[in-house]
Amino acid sequence: MSHKIMERFKQFVAPTYGRFPITLDRGEGAYVWDTDGKRYLDLGGGIAVNCLGHANAEIAQALAEQSAKLMHCTNFYHFEGQAQLAEGLAKRLGQGRVFFGNSGAEASEVMFKLARRLGQAEGRFEIITAENSFHGRTMAGISASGQKKLKDGFAPLLEGFAHVPYNDIDAVRSAITPATVAVMIEGIQGEGGIRPASAEYLLGLRALCDERNLLLLWDGVQCGHFRTGSFQSFQGILGDQIGDFLPDAVGMAKALGGGFPMGAVWISVKHADVLGPGTHGSTFGGNPLACAVANKILEVIDRDGLAANARALGQFFLDELARLREKYPTAIREVRGLGLMIGIEMGGGFGSFDNSKPAAVQWVFALHEAGLLTIPAGSSVIRFLPPLNLTQEEAQAGLDLFEQTIQKVIE
Ligand SMILES: Cc1ncc(COP(=O)(O)O)c(C=O)c1O
Repeated sequence: MSHKIMERFKQFVAPTYGRFPITLDRGEGAYVWDTDGKRYLDLGGGIAVNCLGHANAEIAQALAEQSAKLMHCTNFYHFEGQAQLAEGLAKRLGQGRVFFGNSGAEASEVMFKLARRLGQAEGRFEIITAENSFHGRTMAGISASGQKKLKDGFAPLLEGFAHVPYNDIDAVRSAITPATVAVMIEGIQGEGGIRPASAEYLLGLRALCDERNLLLLWDGVQCGHFRTGSFQSFQGILGDQIGDFLPDAVGMAKALGGGFPMGAVWISVKHADVLGPGTHGSTFGGNPLACAVANKILEVIDRDGLAANARALGQFFLDELARLREKYPTAIREVRGLGLMIGIEMGGGFGSFDNSKPAAVQWVFALHEAGLLTIPAGSSVIRFLPPLNLTQEEAQAGLDLFEQTIQKVIE
């Protein structure tokens, strides 16, 4: 069965992804099953998407009820679900308004357009982003992202993006030109290998952007929506130092819809009218189905204290992984992360590996065999991005499978 499906993929599906040879059939909570009946503990969470796990009954019910009531109505009209969701997101950030789209890349696009529109009168259009950043796969997204491999073969790229080393405020300062209009960063670089911003960097960026009249654009697509234990990661990174720190716009997607495709951008009240009527739009953005799901997710996260769960289980993972690192230093080089956004820098070159492939991919394969799904990042990092409602037992089960795999690989 799985073999036949994979063959049909080869024949009919565009080959843009390096897919693993797993054919999934169904899921329940933190587990998924393939078409041969093999069970996997899913610590990848669909790359930080399945925040309430698989086949969540409350999401399914919200979706079914909304689909029987009003599935789609275009953004020419109003409906309560979108108002409720915009209010729910704005309340967690500050005074501002929300634009809804369908994905993370589109959230980035909104922020680019916001910056360009704002700077246009003064001839400012340049956006400074970080090396190793990832902001999506559209032409503007790859132009903005600080990773060469995303851009190869797609010239000419969109002009007006400069990349500087991450967590280096002096590098940002030096890159500012009279044409600069914004700085855009991820709070924790996800695709770049789980690299958190420091509190000093964030405070420095805010001060610098204020001083030079630049927008601070926040890509919270992967690190947002409570993944790190707070709604947006800057809230956790800054903690007591937060004061009145706020970016000028915050991009969201992934866990916002928990598996229903959606994206959003919160824009601070000061700039909320920059993108006025006719300047941007989306047929499906924030449609009734998406909003019903996202509203339910916010309700469940609050009701079940899932931000606290992400903080507690995140610390548990970090402590246990540090212990495993001491025990297996050739396999685990470094552990980084915040909440349930964890990156593990893995060693390579083991005898059982096909060393023509990057170490990260080799480890992901080995973990599949043990029944554990994780997500590679770059050449040597694997990520844990599990559901926010993961239990302590499931976390322990994941660590056990991880340790067993390490033992098997390095023996
Ligand atoms: C930080 C960040 N921004 C943007 C995106 C693009 O999101 P999407 O794949 O939904 O377009 C991603 C996806 O991984 C991401 O991690």
